[in-house]
Amino acid sequence: MNFKLSEEQELIKQAARDFAKNELLPGVIDRDEKQEFPKDEVKKMGELGFLGMMVDPKYNGSGLDTLSYVLVMEELSKVDASSSVIVSVNNSLVCWGIEKFGTDEQKEKYLKKLATGEIIGAFCLSEPEAGSDATSQKTTAIDKGDHYVLNGTKNWITNGGTAAVYLVIAQTDKDKKHRGINALIVEKGMDGFEVGPKENKLGIRGSDTHSLIFNDVKVPKENRIGEDGFGFKFAMKTLAGGRIGIAAQALGIAAGAYELALKYSKERKAFGTEISNHQAIAFKLADMHTQIQAARLLVYQAAKDKDNGDNYDLSGAMAKLYASQVAMETTVEAVQIHGGNGFVKDYHVERLMRDAKITQIYEGTSEIQKIVISRSIIG
Ligand code: CAA
Repeated sequence: MNFKLSEEQELIKQAARDFAKNELLPGVIDRDEKQEFPKDEVKKMGELGFLGMMVDPKYNGSGLDTLSYVLVMEELSKVDASSSVIVSVNNSLVCWGIEKFGTDEQKEKYLKKLATGEIIGAFCLSEPEAGSDATSQKTTAIDKGDHYVLNGTKNWITNGGTAAVYLVIAQTDKDKKHRGINALIVEKGMDGFEVGPKENKLGIRGSDTHSLIFNDVKVPKENRIGEDGFGFKFAMKTLAGGRIGIAAQALGIAAGAYELALKYSKERKAFGTEISNHQAIAFKLADMHTQIQAARLLVYQAAKDKDNGDNYDLSGAMAKLYASQVAMETTVEAVQIHGGNGFVKDYHVERLMRDAKITQIYEGTSEIQKIVISRSIIG
């Protein structure tokens, strides 16, 4: 396995690092405090090609590999995980899902705009009673010949208020269980589609999380993705790649907290010397550095598996499970190293600690990743 980055990948990583420092960092505390969506920043990320990174240039994408995408996710997440989840959902779930399984018409109509960030998308699987148990869909899409009638509620939807295009998973034929589920492209503004209130969250507060309500929404049949009944497989296949993006986000949060803690420990003095000279702190830094590098190797391997056309269900789940655990542990230690300063907002680490928690929950909780991993190894 060779993880030496190409010149192009190094340039992309540097571009993301510069963007995060110059454009995301200045307002990140304020956006977190006010729960403000990074509207201007998202527009600029679209101009840089960060919103359709793996999309074929013929659909206005950047045509890059998954490893480049992971590098960008890592660098953005070091500074602002609220912005990086917008990038992750748009890239791995919405653009990838439509490009891989959509029709030519769907790609022309939606993907071209999603890939440039002219519009952004949302992925709508979770429901009040279907989070981890994703086959228990209560939202219905009743087949009416040339269209479906959609009814139900979706919860905790990233980009819920700002998206223009929503990939909605819904049950068409209850008797067929998960084989009777469909994925439909729903546009904002369709009659009967309402965006619910914004969630007041612990972390990633700059991202826009809403419930969605569908009341007799007429969705044309040409908006179905794949064959009738393909919706659950569509969700599973899409989420397998999404988990690599979230693993990279977790890696970035951990690395961002570590970089801040390392710098702080070399400046802050206690007992007559910089605190990095105290073994209690130095050993924490050693553990953090080692865990982050281990997480990075898992994330890069999953990205490489996807780029090489190998199965990435297992490697993606392992990367997400481990990187999110490292994100949580590392950010807690980064706050500890900062002492009292770690507990106030100006030093960023408390926000990174709050942001880390969601990486153990969304796109499949850590417990779900263990189901995927154990089924894969036991058979
Ligand atoms: N690829 C293709 N097909 C898959 C698959 C995969 N990775 N995983 C499962 N399937 C298929 C199975 O083959 C099966 O189909 P067949 O019967 O036709 O063979 C079907 O899906 C059902 O599979 P299971 O019997 O394994 O289903 P299950 O009920 O035991 O659940 C699960 C499996 C892995 C637990 C799944 O429910 C799951 O992933 N749950 C978590 C859901 C999740 O990640 N939600 C995140 C919400 S989205 C989000 O967070 C986005 C955001 O905003 C940031």
